[in-house]
Amino acid sequence: ATPVVVAIDGPSGTGKSSTSKAVAARMGLRYLDTGAQYRAITWWMLHAGIDVEDAAAVAAAADKPSIVSGTDPLAPTITVDGTDVAAPIRGQQVTGAVSAVSAVPEVRTRITELQRSIAAEAAEGIVVEGRDIGTTVLPDADLKIFLTASPEVRAARRSAELTGRSGGPAAAGADVVATREALLRRDAADSGRKTSPLAKAADATEVDTSELTLEQVIECVVTLIEERG
Ligand code: C5P
Repeated sequence: ATPVVVAIDGPSGTGKSSTSKAVAARMGLRYLDTGAQYRAITWWMLHAGIDVEDAAAVAAAADKPSIVSGTDPLAPTITVDGTDVAAPIRGQQVTGAVSAVSAVPEVRTRITELQRSIAAEAAEGIVVEGRDIGTTVLPDADLKIFLTASPEVRAARRSAELTGRSGGPAAAGADVVATREALLRRDAADSGRKTSPLAKAADATEVDTSELTLEQVIECVVTLIEERG
């Protein structure tokens, strides 16, 4: 069989990463977290003392760091110039700066090339998750999924993730309100940018995960892969 390429896009808190990793593991596919790559280049910019709001400075440095992504869905890795950055790229500093860095066209060109070469080398097929995979990075993907969920559900999931509690809308309180605001701000920046914004491809299947468990979303995507064209 020819390798299957699956693009999974959507805003944060929709279960993109958990779904993509589980689907890839179950179907024997590679896995690429493109958000981690944008986080990694952002981490490097912050580390190098580059003002992330200075688009010209970010553009000039876009080619400098070497970013390597490991694509095992059971143990994905990410390094910048040989340093393991899996933990620091999840911190607040990077999360707060990543939308500005990822809006710079030179950064997108560079990271998009990297993503295309990784997908091309995945002989067994790959699940690629992000914001612009179906629209820009891999417009010829065999299957395109666009995950959504209500802002309330997304904020609750993200808060639960951040506090390490087990998921679900039970998580409540001030941290959910703050998380919801930060999340909506990042969505607005990602959806409003000029170069390949967060968007649903015309030929993508939309799955609203608000009322679904993770297992139900995984099964839905696996079924779509098995039943494709
Ligand atoms: O998915 P994650 O939340 O880790 O993505 C972090 C950020 O990386 C997003 O908010 C967005 O600014 C950027 N991103 C992007 N294009 C992608 C994936 C992520 O611009 N394909």
